[in-house]
Parts: sequence; C-alpha cells; structure tokens
Amino acid sequence: MSRPKIIAGNWKMNNNLSEAITLVESVINNSVSNSAIKIFFPSFPFIATVANKIQSSPNFFVGAQNCSEHASGAFTGEVAASMLNSIGCAYVLVGHSERRQYFGESSPLLTKKIHAALANGLKPVFCFGETLQERKSNTHFEVVKDQINEVLNAFSATDMSQIILAYEPVWAIGTGETATPQQAQEMHAHIRTCLSKLFNENVANSTPILYGGSCNAQNAKELFACADIDGGLIGGASLKADDFCKIIASV
Ligand code: PGA
Repeated sequence: MSRPKIIAGNWKMNNNLSEAITLVESVINNSVSNSAIKIFFPSFPFIATVANKIQSSPNFFVGAQNCSEHASGAFTGEVAASMLNSIGCAYVLVGHSERRQYFGESSPLLTKKIHAALANGLKPVFCFGETLQERKSNTHFEVVKDQINEVLNAFSATDMSQIILAYEPVWAIGTGETATPQQAQEMHAHIRTCLSKLFNENVANSTPILYGGSCNAQNAKELFACADIDGGLIGGASLKADDFCKIIASV
C-alpha cells in the first residue's frame, strides 16, 4: 500500500519573526519539488505568517506544536484547535516527549487533544517513544505498545485516516544519537502490528509513521529507505534551511 511521504520540521521554541520568514523562504526557494508533504511547525505567533508564505507552494503546510484540549473559554494562555484552523494551520503535534516530560502531558490528556484536533479539521501527529532506561531494560516494545493503545483505543479506523504517528525514541531527541535504520525499522514494524491488533490490517498499512530523533541530512536517506518509515519529524536540522532541503531531497 502506498503511503504519503512526510517531512516535518519541529522548530520547538526557536526563531523570531524575521528568522522564521527567512527560514521558510529559503526552504521553499531551494528545495527540490517532490510529492512529499512538507510541514513547518513554528511557534504559535508565526503560524499565520508561515501559512501566508507557503500559500502558493504545493505540498507545503503549517502545523502547531500543541493545542488545547478545550474548545474555548476561560483557559488563560491556551490556544484552541479551532483558532489554529482559522489561521490556515493544518496539523498539530500531540504528545511530543518534551510536552510529556516538562508539561506532564499524559495519555488521557493526549486523547482529549487528538479529539479536539480532529473535531476542528487538524491532522494530529501523535508522538511517542521509549526512554533510554526503557530500551536498556528491553521494555521498549511494550512501552510503545502501551503508549499507542492508551491513546488510540479512543479512536475509530475512520479517525485513523486523519492521524499521523511519529516514533521518537527519547534517547535520540536532540542528542545526536540516532536510532540505527535497523532499530527504527523494527520498531516501525512493531507499531504496524500494534495498529493491526487495535484496528485492522488496512489501518496498519495505511497510517504514515515518521521517525524522529537526531535525523539529519547525513542519515535521512538510509532511514527513509526502510520499508515502514514514511518520513521524518526533524528538530535541530529543520532550523537550517540547507539541511532541511537536503532532508526533503532524500525522501
Ligand atoms: P531532533 O528533535 O531532530 O533535534 O532530535 C526531533 C524532535 O524532537 O521532534
């Protein structure tokens, strides 16, 4: 089954307005044109600007790094999925390890956030992955299965057609230590087995699963060549236009 290829740049809390504009413009102007879906994930204040910049660039989209689980109301400092949709945002990261670690986001909350995203026309990119300790103790397959089941059991096969998954081993995020293509591929295959048990074969084969964690211009090609890896969620390397363009070209 053919799945879309997706290259997503998670800028995290980096770039001011002019840096954001320069980065987007240089990626758009210098990247090869291919059918891969390319998504920028800037901080909230720059989403509308990025949406405007990519308007006439085919296959480029903008996403948010987070959204509220609530629809609207007295939640000071929060941003609703409907607001994001109204400014041209098409995707939202849910469950990034930094949100889990620093903001205490747990499976029940992530479930609500995915519901909010879907209800407002945003495609969630649901992130999960094991810690170094969990890998060392050989519980990584079990941990990832639990992370998937705890959240995705609240959704239907039809919902799954709008959801993207991102496997991001915590030990590889921002550390320069990438999962080997073998380690990533075997986990991605395991994730498809989990999806087939939770839903069906069709969902398992049609859901895009991205790899994230120190993916860069040097290792992207080999990772993306793996049968069950459909692209990447890129942090550090998405902040440099040259590197991000090379990653786009390697898909
Ligand atoms: P990294 O981050 O590419 O800098 O490791 C990936 C991520 O956090 O999504």
